[in-house]
Amino acid sequence: MSERLRIALTKGRLQEKSVKLFEAMGLDCAPVRNPGRRLIHALPNYPLDVVLAKAPDVITYVEHGVCDLGVVGKDTILEKGGAFYEVLDLGFGRCRFALAVKKGSDFYGTYKTRRIASKYPNVTRAFFEKKGMDVDIIKIEGSVELAPILDLADGIVDIVETGATLKENGLEPIEDVAQVSARLIVNTASMKLYKNEITDFLSRAERELGGNA
Ligand code: PRP
Repeated sequence: MSERLRIALTKGRLQEKSVKLFEAMGLDCAPVRNPGRRLIHALPNYPLDVVLAKAPDVITYVEHGVCDLGVVGKDTILEKGGAFYEVLDLGFGRCRFALAVKKGSDFYGTYKTRRIASKYPNVTRAFFEKKGMDVDIIKIEGSVELAPILDLADGIVDIVETGATLKENGLEPIEDVAQVSARLIVNTASMKLYKNEITDFLSRAERELGGNA
């Protein structure tokens, strides 16, 4: 008998594209398309329950094994880390982490310790450690673009998709930090326990992604 799997899906930006992919894989996602206030949805024609969650929680649920699978951005994976298998680049949700500064400012032209604002302090720390550069990191929760405008920071490390937000706020990217896209992650125990079920899901996804590449 086929075991019912549970997948944690990142709400928001990645949700629609994930649902489109699942539908192309033959999964009826009607319950997820009309979620109401419900957070868990059983798919009617495939042994899968979909849990809608915030990105960092997707990792927490998969790591703890209460969800077997997860769809989450590489940005969250890089920031939060964790023990799970990252099995597939889903190709959507493409953007990048970049270091950005006020347009025209000479970020590297001073010896004083730079202040960097970011929602992603771990990604920022790793980036500057690799360069051997000592920086002060300030964690910001909301629109991090404000920090250099308000002269709180010399630069920011943030997600850049179209570049419009930077441009409209007088900032410019000066260096790429990492490429980002949505990833399929799998709990390590589930991978062994539900090998057949996970293989079926994975091969459907791979077939679909391959066809669209
Ligand atoms: C992200 C990021 C930038 C913006 C970049 O924020 O923090 O502000 O998108 O996109 P662009 O290059 O296309 O302008 P998001 O809209 O995800 O909101 P958040 O602050 O809730 O993360």
